[in-house]
Amino acid sequence: MPKYRLNLSIPKNSLFKNRMYNFKFLLLFITAMGSFTSSFSQLNEGPPVFHGASVIGYRPHTPVSIYFPITGQRPIDIKVTGLPQDWQLNQDGSVSGMAGDIGSYNFTVSAKNETGQTAQEYHIEIGDKLCLTPPLGWNSWNVFTKNISEKMIMEIADAMVNSGMRDLGYQYINLDDFWHAPMRDAQGAPLPDPAKFPNGIKHLADYVHSKGLKLGIYSCAGKMTCGEQFGGYGYEEIDAKTYAAWGIDLLKYDYCYAPWSKKAALARYATMGNALKNSGRSIVFSVCEWGLRKPWKWAESTTGSYWRTTPDIFDVWQFPALAQYSVMSILKKTEKLEKYASPGAWNDMDMLLVGNYGKGKATSANGMFKGLTDTEYQSHMSLWAMLNSPLLASSDLRNMNEATKKILMNPTLLSINQDKLGKQAHRIEKKKGIRVYLKPLQDGVAIAMLNTKNNTQEFAFTEMNNFDLNENYTIIDVWNGNKYSSLKNTKFTLAPHETIVLKLIRTNE
Ligand code: GLA
Repeated sequence: MPKYRLNLSIPKNSLFKNRMYNFKFLLLFITAMGSFTSSFSQLNEGPPVFHGASVIGYRPHTPVSIYFPITGQRPIDIKVTGLPQDWQLNQDGSVSGMAGDIGSYNFTVSAKNETGQTAQEYHIEIGDKLCLTPPLGWNSWNVFTKNISEKMIMEIADAMVNSGMRDLGYQYINLDDFWHAPMRDAQGAPLPDPAKFPNGIKHLADYVHSKGLKLGIYSCAGKMTCGEQFGGYGYEEIDAKTYAAWGIDLLKYDYCYAPWSKKAALARYATMGNALKNSGRSIVFSVCEWGLRKPWKWAESTTGSYWRTTPDIFDVWQFPALAQYSVMSILKKTEKLEKYASPGAWNDMDMLLVGNYGKGKATSANGMFKGLTDTEYQSHMSLWAMLNSPLLASSDLRNMNEATKKILMNPTLLSINQDKLGKQAHRIEKKKGIRVYLKPLQDGVAIAMLNTKNNTQEFAFTEMNNFDLNENYTIIDVWNGNKYSSLKNTKFTLAPHETIVLKLIRTNE
């Protein structure tokens, strides 16, 4: 087994070396505790805190619209310095304009309220890559399947705002299958179901955009979608142009009723990808051929920002059949694909099941699967975040219980997923049913310990060979807020199927 050595890059004469209880350390520790507490306090209280992506990609010469997710007491005053020429700060605090030529553009946003102020630097990369951090959002499929409508999607957008999810960085509202009319129009342009979407998709996109969110849509590289609606094959140009005119921000492209070969799949994804690229709008391309043709090796070349690594997820922790992928089987498959993930190119572990409790029409397999426990949902969320999967909730956001909100809206965990280094976690241990993952972060590392066993287990880092962690970090348990001064002296107790996630923030010394 490869040994993992954590490079802490601490100078030999560091103040912290072997002296973790010195005065300076304590001061830093207390400071970090303060900032952590504030991120856990009520979302509309206290000083402003920025969330979500700070590195954002757009294609050249396409419209830009950026809403800044910020928690803290309202009202919040927003100022922007260094905006590219002709971009503007809008009344709602968002920024809009037109992307220029290929290149990097930086600006600073400062946010101020009665209790404090903060600033965040934004890096805008105009080029070929979108989703420079994994997309955060929601998708209609798992729970609602064909029962979608304009009214219901608007309510979901409202719920994303009112719950506080938007202010933590969730952005995409993605329509999946069954938005379609029975047929295209006479010119071949796509049309939505007039009963479900009486005012058309543009009207819905305008509404979603007015909330600071983005709208995704679904199609398929076959003549029909998996739900036997009209597919995209042969209509790529007109579809991409129409989606752009509607104001669509993301396309999930499925692979039903299409030829088996990898060559055909690559060609079909490339045709749609190119059409989107030339549509005049930055539209994220989500490749969904279920990992059957190793898309991690080619989907990026078709302009895909992320690709499914497996067939559909089911609301079950562990299950032997391969057609119905469980949380554990998706984890085991995707952890091996670490080297293919990078900013703008992610392994997609499929939608989050958090809060579905076996009620998802698609994911319960007609009631066979009763769902996960909240402990398991928390593990699922932790591991998807650590492995840099897109985080697309699928539960009914209008009726979330407290446990679901807590799991979906943990600011520290979301910051680990959105870290701008874009490194997928690496499995550094697999022993006695415990799997340990490590994800390098811009300001430190995140470590997750998963107990795959059905009994409670203890774990200590001293059990790992060659795991060198000295003490130049403040250590925070993402889920319960506990702080640790040292990993070496701590024994972690893991309930069955529980994941503990630690964020280790590098201290500057
Ligand atoms: C496939 C996809 C699912 C969903 C359905 C819709 O099964 O993998 O995520 O989009 O099609 O029909």
